[in-house]
Amino acid sequence: MNICMVGTGYVGLVTGACFAEFGNLVICVDIDKEKIDKLNHGVIPIYESGLEELVSKNVKANRLKFTTDLRTAVEESKVIFIAVGTPANADGSADLSQLYAVARDVGRWMNEYKVVVNKSTVTVGTAKKVKEIIKKNQGKPIDFDIVSNPEFLREGSSINDFMRPDRVVIGADSEKAIQVMKELYHPLYLIETPFVIGNLETAELIKYASNTFLATKISFINEIALLCERFGADVHLVAKAMGLDGRISPKFLHPGPGFGGSCFPKDVSALSHIAKEVNLQLKITEAVLGVNRRQKDMAVEKIVSFLNGVRGKTIGILGLSFKPNTDDVRDAPSIYIIQKLLEKGAKIKAYDPVAVEAAKKVLGGITYTTDAYGVVQGADALVLVTEWNPFRSLDLDRIKSLLKEPNIIDLRNIYEPEKLRRMGFRYTGMGR
Ligand SMILES: NC(=O)c1ccc[n+]([C@@H]2O[C@H](COP(=O)([O-])OP(=O)(O)OC[C@H]3O[C@@H](n4cnc5c(N)ncnc54)[C@H](O)[C@@H]3O)[C@@H](O)[C@H]2O)c1
Repeated sequence: MNICMVGTGYVGLVTGACFAEFGNLVICVDIDKEKIDKLNHGVIPIYESGLEELVSKNVKANRLKFTTDLRTAVEESKVIFIAVGTPANADGSADLSQLYAVARDVGRWMNEYKVVVNKSTVTVGTAKKVKEIIKKNQGKPIDFDIVSNPEFLREGSSINDFMRPDRVVIGADSEKAIQVMKELYHPLYLIETPFVIGNLETAELIKYASNTFLATKISFINEIALLCERFGADVHLVAKAMGLDGRISPKFLHPGPGFGGSCFPKDVSALSHIAKEVNLQLKITEAVLGVNRRQKDMAVEKIVSFLNGVRGKTIGILGLSFKPNTDDVRDAPSIYIIQKLLEKGAKIKAYDPVAVEAAKKVLGGITYTTDAYGVVQGADALVLVTEWNPFRSLDLDRIKSLLKEPNIIDLRNIYEPEKLRRMGFRYTGMGR
């Protein structure tokens, strides 16, 4: 099938490459010319495991192309996916302007029946608005259908998540469009992936409800971790025992400096916002956001009090991306924590295996090092913010010899407290 993917970011590029791998002819479109030029020269603009090989294989097989020419892409495609960004507005609502801009152009260039699929995460009712915008911008009336097909991939494991998803969600009010989507996802049907098919609004809500539930688990365990600290309990054992209950599951029960990233903060805010629009207060959702804000401040407070103030002190930060295995620093806890420490007069040295270039765009006034040992050299403390695997196996004797003071603040609990204390470190973790 000929498909086009409008928006070639984390979701669009991965999804486009994966659909090409299924044997479709995919044109990925973006307004960012630099991004498209890079892709046309074989350079992958984001860090995502396995993506370079997948893209290169499908480009060579002539199944995957990159362009800024939306008109040709629309004209030549039967299915048009929209995967542009839907960031948060200042009031917490979703900014759908990129999506609506694409809808206008898709309407303008539509030449025959198309299925327009919304892959971006959007507020309930957006698919219907996209439909109106397309209709309004068509030169002459042409039949088309709208589908909501939210994406659940996780950065860092996105190819596997796309190829072996827990479920595929399709929202549509047209049987013809549902059949087109089933055909497109046929390889996943063959491996018995569950398909959840409902109306447009249900599919839109499934995405927000899922992300908000996961964020709720994180905020919940973060609160329990605070309680553990007050009572001398160990949050790891609490989480482990809770997770052994099949009704709870152990996933997303890891305490830390609050959730971040390009999805959870904005999606939880957007869910709370759309409820307000229909005069409903989502009390759990609002609490999740409040707990998360407090958690980030608690992380800063933990560092400040453990070091008896940070003014004039040098702090080595390990990990900048919002989670391991991605270069994405959007809404990363590291950014907030570093900014607060700078405000309090600390000097910051930071290292991340892949996110340094992305961090440089949003964080000035700090020193970036080329390896993990660079951040601790002469530092008053090491603060572990993102749990990249290589940080688990650092040479701790070397770390200790490089640090000016043997302080470790482990915001992800990747080190063994007792072992570190035996080695002569002053150590603190989260909820232990
Ligand atoms: N990143 C994730 O892990 C993830 C997971 C699931 C869902 N989502 C959702 O998917 C959507 C996309 O997220 P992302 O992380 O890929 O964003 P992104 O910022 O990485 O990519 C969006 C791309 O769209 C392009 N774009 C903007 N306007 C355009 C236009 N008019 N025409 C063509 N291209 C245009 C941008 O240049 C950018 O390259 C969001 O709604 C997000 O919430 C993201």
